[in-house]
Amino acid sequence: MASKLWEKNIQVDHDVETYTVGRDREMDLYLAPYDLLGSMAHVMMLGSVGLLTSEEVTILTAALREIYADAVAGRFVIEDGVEDVHSQVELLLTRKLGDIGKKIHSGRSRNDQVLVDLRLFIRSRIETLADAVTRLFNILIEQSERYAEVLMPGYTHLQVAMPSSFGLWFGAYAESLLDDLTVLQAAYKVTNRNPLGSAAGYGSSFPLDRRMTTRLLGFESMDYNVVYAQMGRGKTERIVSQAMASIAATIAKLAFDACMFSSQNFGFIKLSDEYTTGSSIMPHKKNPDVFELTRAKCNKLQALPYEITLITNNLPSGYFRDLQLIKENFLPAFDELEAVIDMVCSMISEIKVNCNILDDSRYDLIFSVEEVNRLVCEGMPFRDAYKAVGLKIERGEFVPDKHVSHTHDGSIGNLCNDSIKALYDKTLSDFGFDKYHKAIDELLKA
Ligand code: ARG
Repeated sequence: MASKLWEKNIQVDHDVETYTVGRDREMDLYLAPYDLLGSMAHVMMLGSVGLLTSEEVTILTAALREIYADAVAGRFVIEDGVEDVHSQVELLLTRKLGDIGKKIHSGRSRNDQVLVDLRLFIRSRIETLADAVTRLFNILIEQSERYAEVLMPGYTHLQVAMPSSFGLWFGAYAESLLDDLTVLQAAYKVTNRNPLGSAAGYGSSFPLDRRMTTRLLGFESMDYNVVYAQMGRGKTERIVSQAMASIAATIAKLAFDACMFSSQNFGFIKLSDEYTTGSSIMPHKKNPDVFELTRAKCNKLQALPYEITLITNNLPSGYFRDLQLIKENFLPAFDELEAVIDMVCSMISEIKVNCNILDDSRYDLIFSVEEVNRLVCEGMPFRDAYKAVGLKIERGEFVPDKHVSHTHDGSIGNLCNDSIKALYDKTLSDFGFDKYHKAIDELLKA
């Protein structure tokens, strides 16, 4: 068994090691490239404050860049007996460089290392997530425009209510994603702050230049107070997962609509055959399993903030090993949500829409308000018009005029998709991802 970073004279019990390391080796692979970036910034900073010579900085950063390339290419492994990514990197450096490798940990702790790794990981995954959300947003807007004129019934209480349209239906989910993106941006702002230099959670007596690592890693600012920096563990993940849950909630609702609207009793949409599955007993079945699983996956994702809350709820300030377990739920969630979004993008682009829904007389009454409004325009007070149409319906004499003319902002005839898109594009560009890319590109330059 390889020794631990912290091991002195007493050998670590194998069962205890298995128990405490848990799935950390697997989880830390998500963090490996970011651990190396954090270490590069830390090493350069140690050089600038005189704790490493410039030669040592050159040697260490070159070695870290090599390991970084391995990590990005998926060649980085955490060996048996090594606790985590942080230990593995130090081990590799020490094997390769001897004493110089042993110097890198001055002025830091694995506690602020994992904090900074998580921030860098999240920052990058928020970017890919925002990309995926944007793809779905654009598809929804396209479909909204394509089917702007196709009417469908709108419901309240699941009772037939008023005319709606596929333009409104698709566009509503696009606009929902706009708000989800705003929430994601708030999470991004919380994430884009540098915890490095907080060490074990109480700073260091070395004169660390935290402004320098903040700049080198492209963070917007630092988490100034070292105790607060450590308190960000779990809090950041919770806030980010709330944003993910917001996206997931939008998609879960869309998935429910899609399942319902594709059932024979509605017949509003048809899913492409590739996205339906058959039954082992009923030869006629084409089930919307893909949307059903989408709904369930999205509902599971909405549990994530609660899971994190429960892990962190009763912890006082300061580091606790409890925090490690968050990784198992949190890190893979990005892959899951992105896979859901990819699938929904394909399904929504290929969805078939029924253009004649309202020919069916069971929807005739959705035009009742149109008739009331027509009488109002002719000068009848609304309450009288309401009553007159109501009585006509009771007598079975109501004949719908199926022509609808809704003109106000956000209505059937005036979807305002351009305004929604403009707001979306502005929100997306406000993330300013290029700022951090610039810093990281610079950091990686030999
Ligand atoms: N695997 C640990 C975690 O994720 C790394 C930090 C270890 N720190 C400690 N004090 N044991 O939290």
